[in-house]
Amino acid sequence: TAPAAVIVAIDGPAGTGKSSTSKAVAAKLGLGYLDTGAQYRAITWWMLSNGIDVQDATAVADAAAKPHIVSGTDPAAPTISVDGLDAAGPIRTQEVTAAVSAVSAVPEVRARITELQRTIAAEAPHGIVVEGRDIGITVLPDADLKVFLTASPEARAARRAGELKGKDATDLAATREALIKRDAADSSRKTSPLAKADDAVEVDTTELTLEQVIECVVTLIEGASAAK
Ligand code: DC
Repeated sequence: TAPAAVIVAIDGPAGTGKSSTSKAVAAKLGLGYLDTGAQYRAITWWMLSNGIDVQDATAVADAAAKPHIVSGTDPAAPTISVDGLDAAGPIRTQEVTAAVSAVSAVPEVRARITELQRTIAAEAPHGIVVEGRDIGITVLPDADLKVFLTASPEARAARRAGELKGKDATDLAATREALIKRDAADSSRKTSPLAKADDAVEVDTTELTLEQVIECVVTLIEGASAAK
């Protein structure tokens, strides 16, 4: 049975299975899917492509309104474009990954992207799963369900290294280090840091398979949807 237009926020650090889980549950339940990390990566890619010094918060703030970012929310084929250019490939490079925390810490960037996210969620006809870092607390505080995914640093690094295999050259130790550094930056920034909302359900995925995490979140959404 199709749930009512249910709004689901899924937050957590990198490598917890957020994207795989969010996409799969959205597809299963006929909901839209929004990868907010892809939006921060897209604006970061635009800054790098346009010669903006990403460590210069003033320069980043001044340019924040310029790129036109469009997200496609079909969980079977999510898309992201910047100024009409397909950004799906370029936003996954190590260069963008290394710069995204600095760009996403700039308040003007967050305000811009947050507004975009709220519009997309409000317009989702059958509801939506929105995954990120600050969705439950800042972007959609009235979400019908908030999930916070966690996993040990070792498990998260292993998953990321597995994903990257054959793309960017990487090894486990380097991946683990980069991931811990990025989480620390995302958790300690002033504006909307990565954090668990008080009313979020925490799911530790360290010992779970992806299928188990998906099943758990589907059950939580069905419960939230029935309670609406
Ligand atoms: O989910 P991801 O690893 O693709 O996200 C990339 C970066 O974007 C992450 O390091 C921090 C930032 N981000 C954010 O600040 N807020 C969000 N809601 C989602 C991502």
